[in-house]
Amino acid sequence: MARPTTVHVCSECGHSSVRWHGQCPGCDAWNTLVEERAPVTGAGRGRVRGGAGGAAGKGVRAGTPTRLADVSTERVPRLLTAIGELDRVLGGGLVPGSLVLLGGSPGIGKSTLTNMALGNLAAAGRRTLYVSGEESAAQIRLRAERLVGATTGALDVPVLAETDLDTILATLRAERPEVVVIDSVQTMYAADLSGAPGSVGQVREVAARIMQVAKTDGIAVLLVGHVTKEGSLAGPRVLEHLVDCVLQFEGERERTYRTLRALKNRFGSTNEAGVFEMRSGGLVEVLDASARFVAEATGKPGSVILAAMEGSRPLLVEVQALVSPSELVPPRRVVNGLDRNRLALVLAVLGRHAGIGAGSADVFVNVVGGVRVEEPGADLAIALAVASAARGVPLQAGGAARPVACFGELGLTGELRTVGHADRRSAEAAKFGLRHVISPEVAPTLREALRAALPTRAPQAA
Ligand code: TYD
Ligand code: MG
Repeated sequence: MARPTTVHVCSECGHSSVRWHGQCPGCDAWNTLVEERAPVTGAGRGRVRGGAGGAAGKGVRAGTPTRLADVSTERVPRLLTAIGELDRVLGGGLVPGSLVLLGGSPGIGKSTLTNMALGNLAAAGRRTLYVSGEESAAQIRLRAERLVGATTGALDVPVLAETDLDTILATLRAERPEVVVIDSVQTMYAADLSGAPGSVGQVREVAARIMQVAKTDGIAVLLVGHVTKEGSLAGPRVLEHLVDCVLQFEGERERTYRTLRALKNRFGSTNEAGVFEMRSGGLVEVLDASARFVAEATGKPGSVILAAMEGSRPLLVEVQALVSPSELVPPRRVVNGLDRNRLALVLAVLGRHAGIGAGSADVFVNVVGGVRVEEPGADLAIALAVASAARGVPLQAGGAARPVACFGELGLTGELRTVGHADRRSAEAAKFGLRHVISPEVAPTLREALRAALPTRAPQAA
């Protein structure tokens, strides 16, 4: 068969060109040309781009639309990975024929998680396949040996160390696994595209062709993808619309806690998140994360418990702040596990509406345990931690010696705004003996929140 030609299509204007250009000849945008297989008439993917598909017209039969009520829906049983947190985030297990993209930075534990999932599935008698373009079969075996304690079937998973897409697809057709892991999508290449593995064109082509096979043969596919420094799934942003489910595995490599979130899920909620801990024998689900964080909370100046939501589950985490005089201009503003911009906003509101200015001091804010909290409900925790650190007094609520729990979003005019699931957050705090929770329901403004939590020296003019 003659090698199919490829075209370079501009992702902005759709202009297609035979050669690659740095600047699109159509719209003058830079770096937008992406290599694709040239549309083939008849066979192949009937992707019609800008009317260039050609095949429209004679000999094409019209489709028959079906009323939704008449569409048959056999309920296919899901494939359970037996990793509770993963199954929950997936919305109750893997759906046969679906494509799941698992993103995360290198070293976070994507291969470990997928190995464990396949091991469990193999132990449950499912046909599995682990395709790796990153490691040799021997390396994969070494990892699997570490996992046998937690995963009985870890060594029963068949592996294929391969990067050529055609070989992988042929193997899929021959082996007909029920679940396959492709680790990672950036290392695979389609021989008929000239782009390097990992380029947008290659990643898209690889995923699209694997999807075709997955859908026709009912294979559940877990595509592993690396995340770039900027936090997007490298190149693979382009895959988000294609796959059924996008999972993000995050946390800091040096820390033990990792969270798994669903950013998109056609078969479940995107509110779910799972917490894992990396141990020497693989990833362990953390079901009592709140208990640990509360027990470890110091209750010293600058420490506060944030009643956060991890998806649909409440999670108590400790937020710590340190305010220290600085020689630097501008002073340092360092955050770990929170949004940097939220710190800037909270500091501005603290200075303007509560008379607590960080001024020229360095401010460090940290979520303990390497957890990332990305929700506006964390504002009040940042504010209280910084205020407590700046004043050098520990927070207290109701005169109790327990750490103070809080949640709430900060408005620019110094008001506290309600956030979702207030009842569940308070209930989680109560469960761990934190009865006094400072929230927008108790304190409508930041000033009142500070008055309630820093009772000895209330903010000036209060
Ligand atoms: P890995 O799953 O290979 O990460 P990724 O595929 O996302 O790049 O492993 C991540 C790290 O976890 C690796 O540095 C080694 C470590 N690790 C453990 O601490 N315990 C274990 O049981 C395993 C298998 C790995
Ligand atoms: Mg890996």
